Amino acid sequence: MRQYLIAGNWKMHTDINSSVELAVGIKNDLITKEGVIVLVCPPFINLWHVAQEVKSTDIFVGAQNCYYEDKGAFTGEISVNMIKSIGCEYIIIGHSERRAIFNEQDELINKKAHAILKKGIKPIICIGETLDDRRAEKTNRVLHHQLDIGLLGISDDQAKDIVIAYEPVWAIGTGISAENQQIEDAHRFIRNFLSERFATNGKNILIQYGGSVNPDNAAEILSIENVNGALIGGASLKADSFMAIVNAAQSLV
Ligand code: PGA
Repeated sequence: MRQYLIAGNWKMHTDINSSVELAVGIKNDLITKEGVIVLVCPPFINLWHVAQEVKSTDIFVGAQNCYYEDKGAFTGEISVNMIKSIGCEYIIIGHSERRAIFNEQDELINKKAHAILKKGIKPIICIGETLDDRRAEKTNRVLHHQLDIGLLGISDDQAKDIVIAYEPVWAIGTGISAENQQIEDAHRFIRNFLSERFATNGKNILIQYGGSVNPDNAAEILSIENVNGALIGGASLKADSFMAIVNAAQSLV
């Protein structure tokens, strides 16, 4: 059966009240269906409250970032242990905003992936080309590099716990998602890479698409071969639009 992971990336939105309100809205509307995992990723400071709110539901909670060291003098950073200890099972790493604004490189993202896997939870590793890359026909080269370095040293056994999010940078927050053919091509390229790198588990790794997914385009995007879910920014900030995307996935399994 096809598997989907529908994840809301709340980015630096919501305060303590509105994050709980959003979580309650999703909780009230969700009728779980096998094959569709629902995940919300609030800002760090709201994680605990959201995690408490959805504790006895099927909604998973994840963080948007982490540091790779366990503990120590790293002012302002949050470790995987800390995130795990409040019940999170996923951590988004390498988001294009972190790459572009905070200068995160693939080597750092790889260290974070290892730290997350070591603690038995799941990294969502974001990759994607910029508009310049695409125009210069470098999309596959960029994706290959991000996968190659980002997944360095990860074993085939560990690979069953990773998620890849393909997010073309130019489609994020722009209201213009990639075209179906572009998504299909990129996801096939990623799937081939993963199947080659991880002979046993590569074919089952979930590959999400992200970049202006909304209730109107979700069903079409989620139907594309090798698309196993969506990482949603803007449309995840309202319970009804997020749930419309969850429902679109549910209708496809
Ligand atoms: P968007 O963001 O849905 O607002 O385009 C996606 C993301 O950045 O993960």
